[in-house]
Amino acid sequence: MDSVMTIRGGVPLNGKVAVRGAKNLVPKAMVAALLGNTPSILRNVPEIKDVDVVTSLLTIHGVEVTKDPVTGDLTMDPQNAKTAPSREIDAHAGDSRIPILFCGPLMHSLGEAFIPDLGGCKIGDRPIDYHLQVLRNFGAVVEKRPGGISISAPKGLHGAKLELPYPSVGATEQVLLTACRAQGITELAGAAVEPEIMDLIAVLQKMGAIISVQTDRVIRIEGVEELSGYNHRALPDRNESASWASAALVTHGDIYVEGADQQDLTAFLNTYRKIGGAFDVNDEGIRFYHPGGDLKPLVLETGVHPGFMTDWQQPLVVALTQANGVSIVHETVYENRFGFTEALIRMGANIQLHRECLGSVPCRFGQRNFQHSAVISGPVQLKGTDIDIPDLRGGFSHLIAALAADGVSHVTGIELINRGYERFQEKLEGLGVDIDLRTSGV
Ligand code: EPZ
Repeated sequence: MDSVMTIRGGVPLNGKVAVRGAKNLVPKAMVAALLGNTPSILRNVPEIKDVDVVTSLLTIHGVEVTKDPVTGDLTMDPQNAKTAPSREIDAHAGDSRIPILFCGPLMHSLGEAFIPDLGGCKIGDRPIDYHLQVLRNFGAVVEKRPGGISISAPKGLHGAKLELPYPSVGATEQVLLTACRAQGITELAGAAVEPEIMDLIAVLQKMGAIISVQTDRVIRIEGVEELSGYNHRALPDRNESASWASAALVTHGDIYVEGADQQDLTAFLNTYRKIGGAFDVNDEGIRFYHPGGDLKPLVLETGVHPGFMTDWQQPLVVALTQANGVSIVHETVYENRFGFTEALIRMGANIQLHRECLGSVPCRFGQRNFQHSAVISGPVQLKGTDIDIPDLRGGFSHLIAALAADGVSHVTGIELINRGYERFQEKLEGLGVDIDLRTSGV
């Protein structure tokens, strides 16, 4: 069924929201439970679709998943893990990218796995070549099958000396989840070191893994025979925190984000301050607000941690349409992450996309015909329009643009936002937004 959300603009968002466990850690920690020989407990789990998808995938593989009705904490018991029929896996994979991370744990516990073709936001080609390469280096046999890949480890999995061509978060997680129980030492050069990666390492260490991270992005894992379950509280979702911060700026509002952690937001907070946003940090969260006056333009380049996170740029671009001057954003992580600007342009934003690397360093996408740099001129008054949400972060940007716009916007495809923002409609209403949501019968 399609839902249409009608949003009347001109509404400053004022109030408080609570941010819980990170969408880009929680599903991975759930997969890690498969590696243990006793149950695991995961706390601070948000109610988002990606968690439901992984719960289904674990369940069809024989893992008993129980959710505390009050706290939402998950208990996962992998002691009866079993292979699942590929058609069932396919049915449950949904539009998630997480299934690829089942490879290592399923090979360790069952000796084989079938992984369905992946979904995820359409923000680029999103290949899995790094994943398949590292699995083969561990000794896995990987075969493409209709609808997915079949993978097995007839002779077990052994440690390997690896180097990633690009610090891929997913490929680093693939290595961590496979190497921790492989025979021998694994060395991964060119690894991702995002806060979510470090939290997954903390989960694995609690299970008995031996993992060290060097300053030169080399991660070393000493394989161990067996792992036990963990008890872990997931780190907060820094992407959701940054999204609400941008929403406060765009709507001239004032939002206290309970659970926001300054440590994981350093690059975002510096940028936020430079364009004219204000924030106050306390031990429980961060208050983000528009202090008045003009917003300032800036030149921004996304990058891997500790740089400016690619997931933060979409909501911030909406704020830049309100800045007094010309801003430039060079997106260096994904080749096609400005699709969401089409709707902003229809709302009156002045944004031009370019295939050149408009930043301090040429990136992988320079001169390859990807429009991965944006020039944004402001300030402009946005006007309400009809919007069909393209992806998770772009979708949130459309919502805050509609809230800042003059007039009414009709937004479809809002289910996409449920993948990564827990109870966002409830949160918007709590911040003073009058939402009219109609579900058509189709
Ligand atoms: C994770 O995606 C996040 N998703 C993304 O968040 C995030 O933007 C991204 O990391 C970068 O930080 C989850 O954790 C579920 P990558 P992932 O592998 O792991 C290329 C959101 O909105 N690449 O670091 O898929 C890839 O095409 C989402 O929450 C290969 O070429 O990202 C991209 O250009 C969006 N081959 C770059 O690396 C591979 O085998 C970074 O991808 C793997 C990746």
